[in-house]
Amino acid sequence: MDKKKLKKTTLAVHAGTRKDDAFGAINGPIYMTSNYRLPSDGTFIDWSGSNTNIYARNRNVNQMVLQERLCALSGAEDCVIFGSGVAALAGIFTTFLDSGDHVIVSEVCYSATNILLRKVFPKKYNIESSFVDTTDIEAVKKAIRPNTKLIHLESPGNPTTGLTDIAAVAEIAHKNNALVSVDATFGSPILVNPTLLGADLEIHSMTKYINGHGDSIGGCVLSTTENIDKLKELALVNYGGVLSPFNAWLVSRGLATLPLRMAQHSKTALKVAEFLEAAPEVRFVSYPGLNSHPQHELAKKTMGDQFSGMIAFDINGDQEVHQKFINALNLVTHAVSLGDIESLIIYYDQESDKLPYYPEIYRKGFFRFSVGLEDADDLIEDIQQAFKACGVKKK
Ligand SMILES: Cc1ncc(COP(=O)(O)O)c(C=O)c1O
Repeated sequence: MDKKKLKKTTLAVHAGTRKDDAFGAINGPIYMTSNYRLPSDGTFIDWSGSNTNIYARNRNVNQMVLQERLCALSGAEDCVIFGSGVAALAGIFTTFLDSGDHVIVSEVCYSATNILLRKVFPKKYNIESSFVDTTDIEAVKKAIRPNTKLIHLESPGNPTTGLTDIAAVAEIAHKNNALVSVDATFGSPILVNPTLLGADLEIHSMTKYINGHGDSIGGCVLSTTENIDKLKELALVNYGGVLSPFNAWLVSRGLATLPLRMAQHSKTALKVAEFLEAAPEVRFVSYPGLNSHPQHELAKKTMGDQFSGMIAFDINGDQEVHQKFINALNLVTHAVSLGDIESLIIYYDQESDKLPYYPEIYRKGFFRFSVGLEDADDLIEDIQQAFKACGVKKK
């Protein structure tokens, strides 16, 4: 069988599987060990930990299984696992940026990325940052400086769902000897594969879709072995943001159903987004699968016919109406995370002005809705009854 031809649904189940040879168990064990026995017969010990099991912070067997599966799904050469998505992001920034460097960042990005690159790195490490609207390629070109070493994108961006043309940014970056890193958490490796589009580093918060079941935090970076070795050496081994074997096992288990979940999240979210777009109670909807999304054509080109489960939308009314709406929902839980089997919603109120969501529509406040695996009609019915309960105006 030609393993290169296997589809993602098959790879998610079979790639990197470690059957337990000692006892014949179909499910590989969780290797709950901090140390590994070292050779005492004079055999060479690779202290970098790349090829020898030494200590669970260098590498552990459950991480390795997960890394292989993620590589198979993303198409990248190599992978490193971290204890959280933020540890993966911080790992990239600390490994690939030096004092005096400049980094360009998507203005729409996860809050920790925003805080690290806007405040912490400039002050602590003398690293300059420019936050630009990376959905606008000309703005990216203009922001390049002689010392630009990294362009960090989030696509689709959290929480607005804007898409960046990764291939176009990679071309600009590489002409200027800069690397491109892409946080593709919103799409997961099923829908967004930045390294196949020319990016150097692909990041996912595995806490979200990859694990999918809301029971483990985790992060990963996918890239060439050369880049991954650099990340392992500094960020993993010496900064130490490691994922436990148990959590690596949980994430591997979640990952097996990722292609199926993404297909269902996408199908349900499209139906819900279409309902919201037609509802007179709704001020705006942003979902990459809608014709009205500013980067819909790019989404079709790069994501295919699935657009994930993340929707940004708003309803007419003041803060009280928004609060009542959230409180009235029965199936959708008010919570911060995303990509879970159950639907989650969070409101970015006017305070979010402090975050640079430049387009006027976002500045007025909006919901980020992570559509779960519930039936689409049940979710729509829940939203309809919450509209009635909160007193939202029809416009
Ligand atoms: C796009 C994105 N990147 C990174 C993170 C951080 O991931 P973690 O919570 O696993 O540290 C999040 C968390 O919400 C996220 O949404």
